[in-house]
Parts: sequence; C-alpha cells; structure tokens
Amino acid sequence: MNNQTAWWKKSVVYQIYPKSFYDSDGDGFGDLNGIREKLSYLEKLGVDVIWLNPIYESPQVDNGYDISNYKKIEPQLGTMEDFDMLLKEAHEKGIRIILDLVVNHTSDKHPWFTEAKKGKENPYHDYYIWKDTIPNNWGSSFGGPAWEYVEETAQYYLHLFAKEQPDLNWENPKVRKEVQEILRFWLEKGIDGFRMDVITLISKDPAYPDGPVIQNKAYGSYYAGCASGPRVHEYLQEMNREVLSKYDIMTVGEAPHTSADEAAPYTASDRHELNMVFHFDHMHLDYDENGKYAKNRVKLTDLKEVMTKWQDTMHECDGWNSLYWSNHDQARAVSRFGNESEPYRVKSAKMLGTILHMMQGTPYIYEGEELGMTNAHFESIDEYKDVEALDIFRDFTERKGFSEKDTLELLGLKSRDNARTPMQWDNTVNAGFTEGTPWIGVNKNCKEINVEQCLADQDSIFYYYQKLIQLRHEMPIITDGVYELLDKENESVYAYLRKGEKETLLVVGNFTDKTINYHIEEKVQAKKSRLLISNYNAAETFERDLSLEPYGACVYLLEAEK
Ligand code: GLC
Repeated sequence: MNNQTAWWKKSVVYQIYPKSFYDSDGDGFGDLNGIREKLSYLEKLGVDVIWLNPIYESPQVDNGYDISNYKKIEPQLGTMEDFDMLLKEAHEKGIRIILDLVVNHTSDKHPWFTEAKKGKENPYHDYYIWKDTIPNNWGSSFGGPAWEYVEETAQYYLHLFAKEQPDLNWENPKVRKEVQEILRFWLEKGIDGFRMDVITLISKDPAYPDGPVIQNKAYGSYYAGCASGPRVHEYLQEMNREVLSKYDIMTVGEAPHTSADEAAPYTASDRHELNMVFHFDHMHLDYDENGKYAKNRVKLTDLKEVMTKWQDTMHECDGWNSLYWSNHDQARAVSRFGNESEPYRVKSAKMLGTILHMMQGTPYIYEGEELGMTNAHFESIDEYKDVEALDIFRDFTERKGFSEKDTLELLGLKSRDNARTPMQWDNTVNAGFTEGTPWIGVNKNCKEINVEQCLADQDSIFYYYQKLIQLRHEMPIITDGVYELLDKENESVYAYLRKGEKETLLVVGNFTDKTINYHIEEKVQAKKSRLLISNYNAAETFERDLSLEPYGACVYLLEAEK
C-alpha cells in the first residue's frame, strides 16, 4: 500500500475506555451497547477511528489487560453479537474501529497458563517463560518481583506486570502462530487495525541481565532486558508478512522506553512492521527521583525538544507519529499540561488541542478530553481502583516513608484512575453514565463539565476539537507539511511552522496564564495570510506581533513570499 495516501495519516482517533464510557444496562460498567448508543456523538465530533481498550474476556485484575479468552467478549461489556453490531453501525457512519492487542502476556486464568503450570511436560508449558531459579533482580510494574513461584513445576514464571499477567514466550513459534490466529480472527470480522500493548517488550534478552535500580524502587528495571529486545523486529516483520500486510489496516504499537531513533525501525514504511508507535518521552518530562509520581510540571523547552525530535525523526525515516497528551494510563491532559483551574481550563484545553493537532502524525483524543475533563481529585485511597495506584500507595507509605497525605497528593496528580472516571454526559446523577452504581466514582465537577453543556455552547472545547478535526480533513498541509520549530528557547510560547510547497502554517500557543506580546521571527514572511482557528479573538490576518491572551492559541495559513 502506498503510505503517502494511507487513510490513517489523515485520521483522528478517539480512544474509548469501554468500562467508563457509557453504561446501557445499569450494572455500573460501561458496555459495547453503550458505545453504540453514542456513535452519533462521535460522528458529530468528526473522528475517523475508535480505539477500544481491551474488550475480551478478562478477570479484570488490570481492567482487561489480563485476557483469559481472546475470542470472547468480556461479559460485563456485552456479547459478540453486540460487538458485530457496533462494528457494523460504526462502519455505516464511516468510523473505523481498532482493537487493543495484548499479547506480551495473558491472564493467569487463560487456559494456556492453567495448562502450562501443570508441569514441565505439559504442551503449553513452553508458552510462558520459566526459570528454575530467579535469574535477575527485575521488579514487576505493579510491585514485587517479576518472578512468581509455582509449586507444581517448582519453577518461577516471568510477569513484567501483575503476577496475574504471565509473559508469553515469543521464542516459541507456536505462540507466534497463536497470535497470528487471533489477529486473523478479528481482521476477518472486518476490524480496522490494532493498538499493540507494550509490543516493544515481547522479545527478552536470553541472558536475563540484572537491571539498574532506578526511581528509588525496590527492584531492578526490566527494560534493559526487554525493551526492543534482540528478536522484536523479526517477530513484527513476521506478523506483518503473515497477516497484517493482507489487510488495509492501521497499527500503532505502545513503545515504552523507546527513543525516536529506536522507533524509526518500527515505523519506517520500508520495514513493514508497524505504522506508528506511542512513545513516552513527553510523558517522562515531569518525573523526579521517584519516577512518575512527582509534583513537577513539564518545562516547555523540554517539551518542545522532545516533540521536535520525534517530528524530525519520523519525517526523516518516512515513519509516522502518533500524537497524544493523555490516555487511560496518564493524568488528564488539561490537568497535567494545561491549567485545570477556572478561568483557564477551557482556554488551555483548546490551546493544547491546537498545538497537538497541527503537528504531523495521527492525533489521538482520549475520551473526555474534548470536554476538558480534569483529574479525579479523589480524597481517599478507598476511591482508587487501579492495581498500580494501590501498589504505589503501599510502596510509598510503607517502604518509602511518605505520609498518606503526600502520597494521595501524588496519586491525585498522576494516578491512572484520573483518566478512568466515567465519561460525563450530563448533569444528572452519576453524570448520566449509569443508572446503577458506577464501578469507579464520578468526578465531582460533572455538573459543570459534561457533554450536554458542551454541545449547548458553541464556544466549547467540543466544537473547537470538531474544527481541528475538520481542518485536518480539509487541508493536506496538516498531513504533509514539514515541521519546523521556532523560538526554541522561549519558555512561555510554543511556535512552529508546517511548510508546504506553496504555503505554510504558523501555529502558536501560549502555555502561561499571562498575556504575551509575541514577536514572530523575521524569517516568517507572508504575502497573504488567513486565520484558520484560534481560541481567542486573534487578528484575522497575520501580524508579526501577536498579542497572545493567557493560554491563547492561533493558527495562520501563510502564503509564502515567492
Ligand atoms: C499497557 C497498558 C496498561 C496496562 C499494561 C499491561 O501499558 O496501556 O494499561 O496496565 O500495558 O498490559
């Protein structure tokens, strides 16, 4: 397929966390029929693709990232018939659907694992990674060691995540065939691609080396022996050759601990692996010595450096960027990168949308981002549900000596549950998400921030996002233009160009709550100019000096001087 014209390069993806989107049957969990009921809402927003977090049968230890049957729908979410209808109705509206492929690990309740642990002779034993003695110091992502003992085999199995998420042994060709079979099953149903969970971790260094102990953790980091391991490119090329290349789909791989240079071989079009990856470089900018759970705010110059590096590298290698501020594992975009306090919430949310959506790549909108939904502001640990949050609370209060108050403050800033509170539909009880008891608490600000309110206000974030999406659909320069950062050292304003053959886009965003008189570099000349979008009353034509309101953002189309 010719990558130049690939549909996913012009698409905007909307991420749905099914459990928290809309509950159609009153059991407190969102479900597939709930998504179906809200398709018109997504159609109105104008998105092209929906990415569904895992919908397969799962004990829900990690909210669906622990799968016990890849070909069955999680009963809380619905049935296969519900899924088929959802896919059909989405397609009828011109919306594609991609699914989450979680194949670094399964659930410990998956029949492969229940067989595997019966004994070394069991045909499924080699589907997982076993060692007679613990080979290294690796810790698992959700606390404790990454190795768990099983009496029946008198061996330890590897789990990079919870102990209920044993890692698959990709060295075993049978495992790779099983994965291909799962891919085919869903692709034959007509889905439009996959987001591949921690796919860069599937190939382990056979030496299983110790990892450095970082971020004051109790164990060593597994990344040294897992991230972009020795055979990962071979595995992905095989998957592509055997299955993916036969369908007109998109693929995006989650790529923790992958630099832009390391990402190039995954996404370069001539490599036939993935279309794009999710990197974490901008997510790491506010880490401190304890890692993610830190009070730091991102420094704008650092953010510009990271985004620019990815824009440049993906462009040079003929790869492709995925663009995101938030997802189900991160804090809410406006709380973390913008300003969630009034009167700046709406402005800063639009500014963030502008800066991201005008870049080269495929933008991802996380559910509720188009409303400017904020962090949860939970007050007690009892409100948290996430396995990671509960582990951090234990680890910080018991081992690291943090007070409960300080730990709750950190969780309030960064916990994954911030993104997982129910979608806020209206100002009725439970934000209109469910008629039952929601599985996780609804954000207290749902009376003010909700879909109903946004749809009634022509000046809302929703309509602003709608326009950003429309612009991408209408203007090839947003897909193709060459990115160029301006004013690299400026700590308050993010300004960049997207250069086409005849025209240029100028994108400017004020990341502060101050009005700024901003002087655009002399080299940015324009014969004619036109304002495309702005979140304040910006001048209709481009002037070298812009008066940027707090969190003001604007985009001009410039016709070049010859
Ligand atoms: C990915 C998912 C995250 C999950 C983990 C283990 O990072 O996005 O939600 O907990 O993988 O599957």
